[in-house]
Amino acid sequence: SSTLTLLFVLLGTLCSFIYFFSSPNRNKNGRKLPPGPAPLPIVGNIHMLGDLPHQSLHYLAKKYGLIMSIMLGKVPTIVVSSPEAAELFLKVHDVVFASRPKVQSAKYFSYGGKAMAFTQYGSYWRTVRKWSILHILSASKVECFAPIRKAEVGLLVESVRKVAAAGETINLSQAVAKVLEEMMSKVLFGRSMDDKIDFKPLVNEAMHLAGVFNLSDYVPFLAPLDLQGFTRRLKKVSSGLHDFFDKMIDEYQQGINMDDQKPYRNFFQVMVSLLDTPMNPNDEDQPYIVGRENIKAIMVDMVAASFDTTTTAIEWAFTELLRHPRVMVALQKELESVIGRNRMVEESDLPKLAYLDMVIKESLRLHPVAPLLVPHESTEDVTVNGYFIPKKSRLLVNTWSMGRNPKIWSSNAEEFFPERFKDRKIDLRGHDFELIPFGTGRRGCPGMQLALISMRLILAQLAHCFDWELPDGMLPNELDMTEKFGLSLPRANHLLAKPTYRLIA
Ligand code: HEM
Repeated sequence: SSTLTLLFVLLGTLCSFIYFFSSPNRNKNGRKLPPGPAPLPIVGNIHMLGDLPHQSLHYLAKKYGLIMSIMLGKVPTIVVSSPEAAELFLKVHDVVFASRPKVQSAKYFSYGGKAMAFTQYGSYWRTVRKWSILHILSASKVECFAPIRKAEVGLLVESVRKVAAAGETINLSQAVAKVLEEMMSKVLFGRSMDDKIDFKPLVNEAMHLAGVFNLSDYVPFLAPLDLQGFTRRLKKVSSGLHDFFDKMIDEYQQGINMDDQKPYRNFFQVMVSLLDTPMNPNDEDQPYIVGRENIKAIMVDMVAASFDTTTTAIEWAFTELLRHPRVMVALQKELESVIGRNRMVEESDLPKLAYLDMVIKESLRLHPVAPLLVPHESTEDVTVNGYFIPKKSRLLVNTWSMGRNPKIWSSNAEEFFPERFKDRKIDLRGHDFELIPFGTGRRGCPGMQLALISMRLILAQLAHCFDWELPDGMLPNELDMTEKFGLSLPRANHLLAKPTYRLIA
């Protein structure tokens, strides 16, 4: 037994030794990171994240605080879970945290950061962001695409009407995903991608790989072993996507699938027209010439940022409407009073739909599409709230946790109750830090206007044209609410429902 005791003592000493030297709360100068759980050697706290990292971090924050630090492998990571802390990091110190980490997915998908969402802060990122806003995401460009939205949503209603007439059940997750794919393909490429059968599977795999916690990003010395097999898959899917876009550029240059009839140019057209031109013509220090790699990287990024995000947001909002028939009826009443029952919703009706707006805010509060936003990275050492945060720390903002905090949303925080926004004037533009599903500051989502108008139109149309029941006599409170973590946070299982047409036309 004395040998056993000695062994325990030795093990205990070893563990304390490891803890002491790898603890995130200490560093050589005695300056302190925010509090957090003790990390293990090599993996740090990665093992604590589980399948739903935003939820694990929510529970850890209850113990360690609203500004907490964890170690993802060797990477110090600050996890922020309150509006005040989010304001400190995303407003007061916005410029320090405005970069992105260099992750494997960006290395492969965007040739090491030649796109936007995972590109380091700097003039390249600024130019790409400017292009995307100028050509597709500004308010006036979003307005230009109204006919596309109208046509695609019209097709959705037609297809749901057929299902209703047959008394069948519809897979709403798939139906909504299809509309968003069509709408965004037409905005980005001026055409449907429906005939390009390789495209969607490639995009799905890319979305999945861009969202996973890849050990190689945090423990670089393990990267060559590719223990999770992600590197192999990343290489395969990114070369598939790049070949795909190479063919599209070739076709375009040969005049195939040109789309010059429209009153606006699609984004792909704009990008190809910039090929071989200087990126910043007025900047002599930046003689960067736009090449194929840039165009391919930017297109992959725009597809990844736009296809699934809005779909997921609509899917959750509709789930909540089905789970709360009272709210569905209240929304239908609003739609009837503004539009009546003799015609379909038009985009010009949307600004009058105040209750719909509250439904959307309430759904994004409980189901933020990017629960931890997109990881930010700091570009210099900084002291925030008395904590020392070294350069190249990662920042995760847990909007999911903020959305469920009773101190912010009162004791009914977990309840879906759109009326809470009646007296509480909160908008989604990033000024109100308690609700920032689109992020805020320099890295805030540039696609917010496009996303919101698409959400409003599709939700309004579905609630206005149809009454809905759950399949097989399922009760609203039996609806499955399981989440699946990835680049976005969709339902784990598809949403099914039974429509009945309700307009008098
Ligand atoms: C970034 C949310 C739709 C393009 C982001 C971020 C969030 C977000 C949280 C990261 C902010 C941060 O890091 O602080 C959403 C939600 C959407 C949506 C909830 C739908 C409901 C779209 C759409 C586009 C888009 C339709 C159109 C192309 C982007 C891009 C970035 C981004 C390019 C990266 C910005 C950068 O790093 O500078 N979005 N988004 N998003 N979003 Fe969206």
